[in-house]
Amino acid sequence: MNRIYFFTGTGNSLWLAKEIAAKLSECELLAIKAGMDMAIPSGLDRVGFVYPTYGWASPLIVADFFLKAQFPEGGGYYFAVTTCGGLALNAIPQANAILAERGVHLNYGASVRMFKNSIINYGMSKRAEKIAEQSANRAAPIICDIVNKREVKIKPVNQFLYQQHLGYMKEINKTALNYKVSGDCMACGLCASLCPVKNIAIEGGKPVFGNKCERCVACLQHCPKRAINYKDKTQSRGRYAHPQIKPGEIARYY
Ligand SMILES: Cc1cc2nc3c(=O)[nH]c(=O)nc-3n(C[C@H](O)[C@H](O)[C@H](O)COP(=O)(O)O)c2cc1C
Repeated sequence: MNRIYFFTGTGNSLWLAKEIAAKLSECELLAIKAGMDMAIPSGLDRVGFVYPTYGWASPLIVADFFLKAQFPEGGGYYFAVTTCGGLALNAIPQANAILAERGVHLNYGASVRMFKNSIINYGMSKRAEKIAEQSANRAAPIICDIVNKREVKIKPVNQFLYQQHLGYMKEINKTALNYKVSGDCMACGLCASLCPVKNIAIEGGKPVFGNKCERCVACLQHCPKRAINYKDKTQSRGRYAHPQIKPGEIARYY
């Protein structure tokens, strides 16, 4: 049996985790989320981690999982694959460094360039289908490597960039406190069901946000009414979700 732990906001990383799982004979997919079971069972053939790049490294919740997971005794093949918009930089080295501290050897690490989804920072490309196709081509050799248990040497963490990352992540949990909900909200609750850290409650007919945000932008991107926005920055920006991943599928994992 193989197991992949994944984190996703807009579906890229879930899509990739599913593609890898489909090529392994038996593989479970588990979401990295608030309140999850941190114990990794022994006897797994491969243990994988698939997640987006945030601030040139890992989302906070993913780094926290590497720090706190209970790893089984003995070896096993460990791999990490990040999705990114083009600059993954420390995403794999950071995972490797934390896991090494925990006595776990990361056998393989790679990044796949996919759609850039950080709507808070820039507008969304209209070429989602084409980019998904290109990403599938980029992912294919990486999936082949994982099937064949290829080993790679992972670079050390670039400390200068890691300091930039820490600065970027400092206020990230408060992101949703700057989300505005417009009158178009139907209180459908999709945003709350997609939130990996249960940071959204529907109160008085609209979402209310807490201070545990991971900035995965799932709520903002998947809202069917585009009723959630970051300050006044995102109202005119398009929305993105991986063309092959429905929001309901993400919600079932969270
Ligand atoms: C908060 C945030 C920070 C991001 N930082 C980076 C980054 O440093 N480098 C990069 O290449 N892409 C970055 N991205 C883009 C995502 O890594 C990329 O779109 C990823 O595939 C999204 O995965 P998902 O659909 O599974 O959530 C960022 C996205 C978000 C939401």
